[in-house]
Amino acid sequence: MKNILCIGAGYVGGPTMAMIACKCPEYRVTVVDINAERIAAWCAGQPPIYEPGLEALIKSALGRNLFFSTDVKGGIEAADIIFVSVNTPTRTFGHGAGRAADLQYWEKTAREILAQSTSDKIIVEKSTLPVRTAEAMERILKTGAAGAHFEVLSNPEFLAEGTAIKDLENPDRVLVGGHDTETGRRAVAELVDIYAHWVPRERILTTNLWSSELSKLAANAFLAQRISSINSLSALCERTDADVVEVSRAIGMDRRIGSRFLNASVGFGGSCFKKDILNLAYLCEHHGLPEVAAYWEQVVRMNDYQEERFVERMRTAMFQTVAGKRIAVFGFAFKADTGDTRESPAIRVVRGLVEERAAVVVSDPRALDNARRELADLGNAVAFDPDPLRAAKGAHALALLTEWNEYRALDYRAILAGMEKPAFLFDGRNILDHRALFDLGFEVYAIGKTPLSHL
Ligand code: NAD
Ligand code: UGA
Repeated sequence: MKNILCIGAGYVGGPTMAMIACKCPEYRVTVVDINAERIAAWCAGQPPIYEPGLEALIKSALGRNLFFSTDVKGGIEAADIIFVSVNTPTRTFGHGAGRAADLQYWEKTAREILAQSTSDKIIVEKSTLPVRTAEAMERILKTGAAGAHFEVLSNPEFLAEGTAIKDLENPDRVLVGGHDTETGRRAVAELVDIYAHWVPRERILTTNLWSSELSKLAANAFLAQRISSINSLSALCERTDADVVEVSRAIGMDRRIGSRFLNASVGFGGSCFKKDILNLAYLCEHHGLPEVAAYWEQVVRMNDYQEERFVERMRTAMFQTVAGKRIAVFGFAFKADTGDTRESPAIRVVRGLVEERAAVVVSDPRALDNARRELADLGNAVAFDPDPLRAAKGAHALALLTEWNEYRALDYRAILAGMEKPAFLFDGRNILDHRALFDLGFEVYAIGKTPLSHL
């Protein structure tokens, strides 16, 4: 049995390794992390993150050929292949603060691998990293005296939260980057063989290391750019009586454009889009390409604008003030089917409303623990209630910020009856039946649409 180790048991490490363990029973897969609480949850078969289908997947391999542990050193020693899936957040200090990737966790693992290795290993970059990071990894690993050979590969992860298991089971493509040397080609072939257990070979793409590293940043930048593009037009729609949903449909039917990722929204969130684009921009600047950096940075600026604009539209619609008004926020996760709140647009919206002295009640089916942590400094200005009907009681407005399915089917007649009048509804995801809600009596404001108002 060959040993696979993954360092980092987070949103990526846990699900990806569970999938590999499940599909490749002849590999022993161990996932290690310095966070003992997370590891304890994984070991108990109760993942520390919410992801549809994950618990069943874990249970199918846990204890058979899938193990979780805090023993990083022991794991490295025993491993033939090491995936590194630690977090690579934006730097918050020093050079490149607010833009460049903070590679301290990454570098620490490289040094740990070096210190604990006595045999040859394949090191796989799973984390999203600046292009040419593998070079730094190789330099660190080459300083070892033990004579072990390390072959570094890039194998970025493209899963999206909420659909991680489906994405892993049936990926559009798997990308493996490696050196065009004998050992490089052999390592690439070994990793390709792992994925080929369940992914058709024509969907497994092999490239050089730098293309692979850059393609990950590029894919996220392109996806986010589409959202910012449609969101920029949503602002124009609101001024011109055009309807952004109709515009999105009209352009998306052009096969050259395609229909996905054209849903206008309160803004994109998640741990990666913003950090990866800022990192891409930083890299461009570092390589003397300020115009290219500015081009990509605008995608993030447009997203900031969309979030700010949402709060401003609420304030303006509600007679220029939300002070003292109760506002129920439906959804705090950055998207549906996850409890993750990292960079959620709801953070900025709630903070903006609190700044305007509104009394905010946040509801979410899965993300309230994270929401509480995220907003801890706001004290009593924000309340939390898992029941949306209770949250809406006595509210002047509802703001729907996450596209949870359950929000489509709520009893809005009963909700309206319990609200202050006029009752405002701001749909930050355009998932509700706006005409029906208007007919019930709501003042309806949707993204990129003319308001439906009785006033
Ligand atoms: P995460 O924060 O959920 O998990 C990272 C884990 O690494 C944490 O549990 C942390 O304790 C652990 N860790 C950090 N340093 C360590 C060390 N020295 N030894 C052992 N464990 C260590 O992060 P994530 O969301 O899983 O993202 C990981 C990487 O994958 C990032 O680079 C991210 O950009 C990328 N990525 C994330 C997603 C996603 O959907 N979240 C998708 C694709 C790619
Ligand atoms: C995204 C990418 O889709 C993944 O391929 C990538 O692996 C991952 O980032 C990563 O590198 O972390 P994720 O952030 O989990 O995945 O979720 P998405 O479905 O991409 O949604 C991101 C944000 O954009 C969410 O807030 C979502 O609500 C928003 N969005 C998405 C829109 O506002 N409109 C859309 O049309 C699509």
